[in-house]
Amino acid sequence: MKRVIIIALCISLTGCSNLQKETSSEDPITENFEFASKQTTLMLEGIGDTPRNPRNTEEDGSLRLVKSRDWTSGFFPGNLWFLYEYTGDEKWKLAAEKFTINVEDQQWNGKTHDMGFKMYCSYGNGYRLTNNPEYKGILIQSAKTLITRFNPTVGALRSWDHNADKWQFPVIIDNMMNLELLFWATKTTGDSAFCDIALSHAETTLKNHFRKDNSSYHVINYDTLTGEVLDRHTHQGYAHESAWARGQAWGLYGYTMTFRETGDQRFLDQAIKIADFILSHPKLPDDLVPYWDFDAPNIPNEPRDASAAAVIASGLYELSEYASSSSSEKYLNAANSILESLSSPTYRAGLGTNNNFLLIHSTGNWPKDSEIDVPIVYADYYWLEASLRKMKYDS
Ligand code: GLY
Repeated sequence: MKRVIIIALCISLTGCSNLQKETSSEDPITENFEFASKQTTLMLEGIGDTPRNPRNTEEDGSLRLVKSRDWTSGFFPGNLWFLYEYTGDEKWKLAAEKFTINVEDQQWNGKTHDMGFKMYCSYGNGYRLTNNPEYKGILIQSAKTLITRFNPTVGALRSWDHNADKWQFPVIIDNMMNLELLFWATKTTGDSAFCDIALSHAETTLKNHFRKDNSSYHVINYDTLTGEVLDRHTHQGYAHESAWARGQAWGLYGYTMTFRETGDQRFLDQAIKIADFILSHPKLPDDLVPYWDFDAPNIPNEPRDASAAAVIASGLYELSEYASSSSSEKYLNAANSILESLSSPTYRAGLGTNNNFLLIHSTGNWPKDSEIDVPIVYADYYWLEASLRKMKYDS
């Protein structure tokens, strides 16, 4: 086992007050997974047999479990698959199978654009690790259902069905994340329809979602008859013209993944532009864990979003593989710094605390006063994924 030199790292939540990192003689990835195993064991003991999957801590401090239709339902099974991947322990496989089945019905849900989040994080990881043919069929059906949301005039997959009085055809930057399922479906079935739709969606988003400074809008509202942009809005950010932190993270991760799947230089260029926007932003704190919106009005007295940081770290590990040798190190170092911050006691929960989620300090939907500065399951998912990616790069 690799040993690391103990460094007392001063990190800052506010940019002013310094907190000292807990020292450890363990390899940080080993330590992360040992902690995650113990914490998730407690989570499993606490929730018992349930058809619902953990999402977050509620305002009253209680654990929120959600039905399969919730957009976050696939992340907890994904966490269990990552634990199985790391440990090889059958107990995690059994637990992952059990919570993966909880989202099975979503393969038929044509009302969600979050199909990739739900099914690729759960069944996708499960299939990658087990080759279970049943999982393969469910994933293919999920991809078939997702592409029913494609509008050829707009050239994109529709995001939400809600707020129909406000948006004719909303497409959110988050939706880039759902394309991975479609690329997988073409590779698996040989049917190019999935990949063609993913490519069109990525191109339409590239054309319309980004500002001159390479930050992205959250919601683009399209005219279904002409395909023209009607509005550029936000839903979860501070303002229409602000840079919502998790939106930037989805874009970075989404375009890096889309470059991997297509080899198209335009997508790598965009991923690099987004990474540089994030990493050079004057409001990005020293510990590289962003505030919930880069333009939130009361920085440094604003909540952080550890989930955005985890998505950014995971995306940057992959981007460092594709970027030129001169910038690759910059992205790798940034990913390592974010992971180090998130793995410190400032962001990583104490054992048996935090409703047994892994990370603290995520912000889900600030404008709706929902999930502010709480544990949220997708932060844990991308933190575990980033930890696995770091392990691969270090080996
Ligand atoms: N996809 C919704 C979110 O990031 O909150």
